[in-house]
Amino acid sequence: MNILVTGGAGYIGSILTEELVANGHTVVVYDNLVMGHRAAVHSKAAFVEADIADTGVLTRTLKEHSIEAVMHLAAYTSVGESVANPEKYIQNNYVASVSLLDAMVEAGVTRIVFSSTAAVYGEPKKLPLTEEDETSPINTYGESKLAVEKALWKYNENHGLRFVALRYFNVGGASLHNGEWHDPETHLIPDILNTARGKDEILEIYGNDYPTPDGTCVRDYIHVKDLANAHILALNALDDFSGVYNLGTGIGNSVREVIEAARRITGAPIPVKFIERRPGDPAVLTASAEKIKRELGWKPQDDNLDKILGSYWLWLQNNPNGYDDKV
Ligand code: UFG
Repeated sequence: MNILVTGGAGYIGSILTEELVANGHTVVVYDNLVMGHRAAVHSKAAFVEADIADTGVLTRTLKEHSIEAVMHLAAYTSVGESVANPEKYIQNNYVASVSLLDAMVEAGVTRIVFSSTAAVYGEPKKLPLTEEDETSPINTYGESKLAVEKALWKYNENHGLRFVALRYFNVGGASLHNGEWHDPETHLIPDILNTARGKDEILEIYGNDYPTPDGTCVRDYIHVKDLANAHILALNALDDFSGVYNLGTGIGNSVREVIEAARRITGAPIPVKFIERRPGDPAVLTASAEKIKRELGWKPQDDNLDKILGSYWLWLQNNPNGYDDKV
């Protein structure tokens, strides 16, 4: 199939592109390189450097490459930033996504896999979260993604657009070729391993007074390769139906547990200090992934912290400057 991957030069998009190419698909990476890296674009993919808000370029790209499905990952993804600067998230994650849907309708493209998030749930009333649970985001990041999900249902009803929205929980790990590299970095696993290798002096832990066993937030960490694989299953299911799936493992790990695992794997002491809670952080987020396992046959292979941390640690050893010294 001819597939457009928005955000294909980013962390998850680049690894998804690897999997798509390995499965015989023809990929066009569409990325404005604000967060993505030119060196992360797969050598077998075509590359269009543009913004999804640029409807003219987008519609032309869909038509010229005879795109049959879109995988829409391009977005800003920092929970804290979305609280501090909500307009950025409304504009880029929601408004621009709707213009992408319009471009698809205009070009006659009827399939989309959308990167949604666990942040759509807000503070859970029960755990693990299922797709039927109430959505009540507590940050603009989650709101912006939920608004796109709602738009997808409308475009489904009114334009026959078929979609799968994948609600990612906490994605980590690396492939041999690509890994997470943001500037500034706000995500826990890169922050921990950057402290382990001395790039950062100390890891700041946001809060130790959450209602969790050790006082730090609990999250459900999923390996990026398992996540990429779920997109391929979603793509294959799009002929039959539209729907929403959680992508997590059901296993919760606290911030302290992730740090302990990283100390074990790296042998580094990883100094930490506790600071105030970060606004917009729910105490616990864990997924029930039964629906995607049952309906799409998803089988995570690397669903443990050691494999997630180990693969990213290896990538950092091989790429100490990330993409900064590559062209
Ligand atoms: N944290 C720290 N110190 C850091 C970084 C993070 O204590 O330096 C804590 C956070 O407060 C949070 C946990 O580690 O409790 C995980 O934080 P991340 O920023 O790594 O991830 P989030 O849970 O905030 O968000 C991530 C993705 C979102 C996704 C969400 C779903 O960034 O896109 O998981 O759970 F929606």
